[in-house]
Amino acid sequence: MGDGPSKRASSVTPFLVMELLDQAKLMTTRGEDIIRLEAGEPDWTSPATVIEAGKKALDDGQTGYTPSAGMLPLREAISDWYRARYRAEIPPDRIFVTSGSSPALLLAMAAVVERGDEVLMADPGYPGYANAARFLDAKCVRFPVLESEEFIYSADRIAELTSDRTKVIMVNSPSNPTGAYVSPEELERISSLGPWVISDEIYHEICYELDRCHSALEYTDHCFIVNGFSKRYAMPGWRLGWVVVPDSCLSVVRNMNQNFLLAASTVAQAAGLEALRNGEEHVRRMRDEYRSRRDLIVRRLREIGFGVPGYPAGGFYVFANATPFSEDSVAFAEELLRETGVSVTPGVDFGPACRTYIRLSYTTERGRIAEGMDRLERYLAARAAPR
Ligand SMILES: Cc1ncc(COP(=O)(O)O)c(C=O)c1O
Repeated sequence: MGDGPSKRASSVTPFLVMELLDQAKLMTTRGEDIIRLEAGEPDWTSPATVIEAGKKALDDGQTGYTPSAGMLPLREAISDWYRARYRAEIPPDRIFVTSGSSPALLLAMAAVVERGDEVLMADPGYPGYANAARFLDAKCVRFPVLESEEFIYSADRIAELTSDRTKVIMVNSPSNPTGAYVSPEELERISSLGPWVISDEIYHEICYELDRCHSALEYTDHCFIVNGFSKRYAMPGWRLGWVVVPDSCLSVVRNMNQNFLLAASTVAQAAGLEALRNGEEHVRRMRDEYRSRRDLIVRRLREIGFGVPGYPAGGFYVFANATPFSEDSVAFAEELLRETGVSVTPGVDFGPACRTYIRLSYTTERGRIAEGMDRLERYLAARAAPR
């Protein structure tokens, strides 16, 4: 009889970016001038009216539980949002509000995945997907998204890997870490392949060249949609998200949610309701600012010598090929932090094929991004020069 941790728990790998984030924060509190390009969180505080709504909820004594699936006005507002945004009719009882989109992802996967099932996901892709799948004793099967194709998902490549063992195809568009966007045509083809689609749409409102992103909901009912408030309303610390659940899985998700998660924070839900009602101006301003940061960072990274295939369509990340400088992005990220005070995320966090990539978040103001790029340019030029 073993007395150590379970195999299941031990299968979860560390999220390197979190460790680097801690290190960068520590260096900042020690007074070092660190340019933070590693964090996946907006550098804005939440909109003032959202903060006010949260305070008011507390002043009004809203300190009890809400219904497990979330307060009805919030679920109704999310339902209205699907109608307005995607012309999709999603009744509030298909919406479960959660503490961020992370538990929403786990609920969705746990609802359908059996031991030994295969879960298809992009390489590179968000590390939470592989860990959730492993935690459920499923097998991760990765489909490559290639720099030479601007990291765009190929339904053909996904179809080649799909078999009767495939239970879920994970879609994340715009993607963390690449910012690539899945076109409506590809999304429709992926949605028709047969397995469940779990579509993580958390970056949907941060999309630059398109008037809107398309949801998997527009093409199939055989899907779960994961979404949240962290990115687009700059609310990561409130911990608020949701999952849209298909009719056939409502009762299992309800039971898991009631037993394991109970309910999301009441205060956060009150704030989220205000964000959905009045947050669009904030989203537009934030998106415009991100776009100009994206243009700056991509141009400078290319000038320095990193490989960046195109301008990412959405999100707030650039996935840069660092092969000209290093074969090992973990050591490289550590070196850059130590030698230049610029903190970036090693690509290996996002999949086995990404050892030579780094991810940079442009969630830092333009002046600081420019300064960070200047530091990298100076350091890497001197490092490459013959001694
Ligand atoms: C693709 C993606 N999905 C989900 C999350 C989790 O977000 P949260 O739990 O804050 O909603 C993140 C956070 O970085 C993300 O990048």
